[in-house]
Order: sequence, then structure tokens, then C-alpha cells
Amino acid sequence: MTAPTLEIHLTDADLTEALRSDARYGLTSDPKTLPPKWFYDARGSELFEEITRLPEYYPTRTERALLERVVGEIAQVARAEVLVELGAGSAAKTRLLLSALGAAGPLKTYVPQDVSESALRGAAEQINAEFSGLAVHGVVSDFTDTLHNLPGGGRRMIAFLGGTIGNLIPAERAEFLAGVAAVLEPGEQLLLGAGLVIDPAVLVPAYDDAAGVTAEFNRNVLHVLNSRLHADFDPDAFTHIARWDAENEWIEMRLEATRDMTVTIPDLDLTVHFTRGEQMRTEISTKFRPDGLATELAAAGFDTEHIWTDPDDRFALILAARR
Ligand code: SAH
Ligand code: AVI
Repeated sequence: MTAPTLEIHLTDADLTEALRSDARYGLTSDPKTLPPKWFYDARGSELFEEITRLPEYYPTRTERALLERVVGEIAQVARAEVLVELGAGSAAKTRLLLSALGAAGPLKTYVPQDVSESALRGAAEQINAEFSGLAVHGVVSDFTDTLHNLPGGGRRMIAFLGGTIGNLIPAERAEFLAGVAAVLEPGEQLLLGAGLVIDPAVLVPAYDDAAGVTAEFNRNVLHVLNSRLHADFDPDAFTHIARWDAENEWIEMRLEATRDMTVTIPDLDLTVHFTRGEQMRTEISTKFRPDGLATELAAAGFDTEHIWTDPDDRFALILAARR
């Protein structure tokens, strides 16, 4: 068995530099904010995997069941020799796609991409062991600014599963979709997994579980700031908040300071004050309407070929081709 290859476009030093810049900007903004990609150090990636097994967190199991049901149809219309998966994480659901694309078509290469090197390494090694005959080439990079680094080597399908598209703010999302279109050739495909707008009574608990795993995941961003930038956040002094924003149709996760606090970040030469009750946004998780997504994809240069949804209309898989 040939070992999987790993291409690193984000070194540890690059990550620290990027966090410095995001932290300086976000912690001096009013209101304060931090981008969600900083949840995912090794511990954050493990916490996310734990979230996917929670009874309240329906997206992963819904998308998996949907994929199981329609993967044969996807394989019939897929033309990919190379499957690139952005934000692959543990790539748990991707096995379904790899089996179907490999059985029905010319798939030769799998390129999982992620900002979390630990998650990526694990996924690349496991898939390499499970799928003999498939070349596995992992890429550690940021999908918001290094798409041009993705390897080619044949006709591609880019998969972006899990609803991670919803974690981008609208302007980032438009830029991201245009960026994906820009790296694809006409006829190459994008397979997008997206959470749909549903009853907030189901949505909110998915982001505020009884066991407190999502709260720990949310606070993990403070641990990352402490370890990478030597900040002195007390994560236990922040409460996890998950709110449905009906106007923007997204879940907003925030961290709320439970007391007045002064936090020092020596690596930025920065002191940050929090007042009791102050909230800092750490993530949005946008939920979509299928027509709206098709319109956004069209604006970015894609023709929507098919939209599949689960029986409860909680999650969608969208296959689109570069025009
Ligand atoms: N696709 C998997 C994992 C979703 S979790 C699933 O469906 O279950 C989101 C993943 O995206 C994490 O593995 C995280 O490390 C990665 N990620 C988040 N922001 C990223 C960015 N800007 N660039 C690359 N990967 C990112
Ligand atoms: C990765 N992403 C799609 C998850 C979501 O549902 O937005 C991240 C997450 N945040 C809280 N729970 C899970």
C-alpha cells in the first residue's frame, strides 16, 4: 500500500500569523467577533466529531442518510476522476461517495482538504487503508484563500459537505463560490451539502445540546487563543449562547462574559476589556432555502443539475456544474 501524501500550505507559523491578524481585528471590533475556523485545533476537531454523535445534532446523520439514499444517482451523473473535498474533517460520510464514484466511474484520486492537520492526517490515512487503488493526497490549507493550490490531474468534482458553507458570512460565501467556479473547468462539478431552514425548536437545541459539548466546542476558541498567542482568557468565565436569527436565517453562536474582565494577549501587545453580559460572536450557521442556493450558485457561474432533500426537508445535497 502506498502511503497518502500530504501537502502543507499552512504551516504552524502561518496559522499563528493568521490568528494574530484575526484576533487583533476581531477583539478590537465592536461588537467583538472571531472567525469559526479557529475552533478546529486537534481538540476542537475531536469535539466536532462528538457533536456529530449528539442526539440533538441532526445535520450529520440527516446528510449521511440522504447520501446513502442518493449516492447511486450522484454516481450516475458524476464525471469525476478526482474528488476534492473541502473542509473534509474526518471524512466519515465521504466513504459513501468514494465507493459509489469508484464503482460507477473513473475516480482515481481523492484530495481531502482541511485547515486542521490532525483531522486531515487521520482521514487521509484511514481512507488510504480502506480504498486500495485510490490515490489519496491531502492538502492542509484555508479554503477561503488557497483554492488555486488544489491539485488537478483529471476531471474534478469538488465536494463541500456538512453544511460548512453556512459558516461563511454572505460576502465570504459569494467570494468562496466564485473562487470555486474560478478553479473549475466548464462541466466540472460541485457537490454541496447545506442545512435548510427548519423549525427553530429543532434547530436551536442542535446548537445548544443538553450535555454541553457544543458549549465546550464554542469555548475552545479561547483555549486556542491561550495556547497560540499566550492569551489569559478564563474560558469558564464565558457562557455559550446559541440564537436563531430569523431575519438572517442563521444560528448565531456567541460567548457571553459572566463578569467584567481584562484579558491580556502578550503576543499582540493587546489588552482587551469585557463587561459582564458582553457577547462576542464566534460562528454563524446559515440555513438555506433550495431556490436561494440555486440562485447564488447561478450568480457564481454554476448550473444546478440536481437538488436532493431528506424526507423532513432538513438538509439538501446540491449538484451543480461549472457553466
Ligand atoms: N465535512 C465534515 C466536517 C465538517 S466540520 C463533515 O461534514 O462532517 C468543518 C470542517 O471544516 C472542519 O474539519 C474544519 O477544520 C474545516 N474548516 C473550517 N474552516 C476552514 C477553512 N477556512 N479552511 C479549511 N478548512 C476549514
Ligand atoms: C461545521 N459546521 C457545518 C457546523 C455547523 O453546524 O454549523 C459547526 C458547528 N457549530 C456548532 N455545532 C456544529
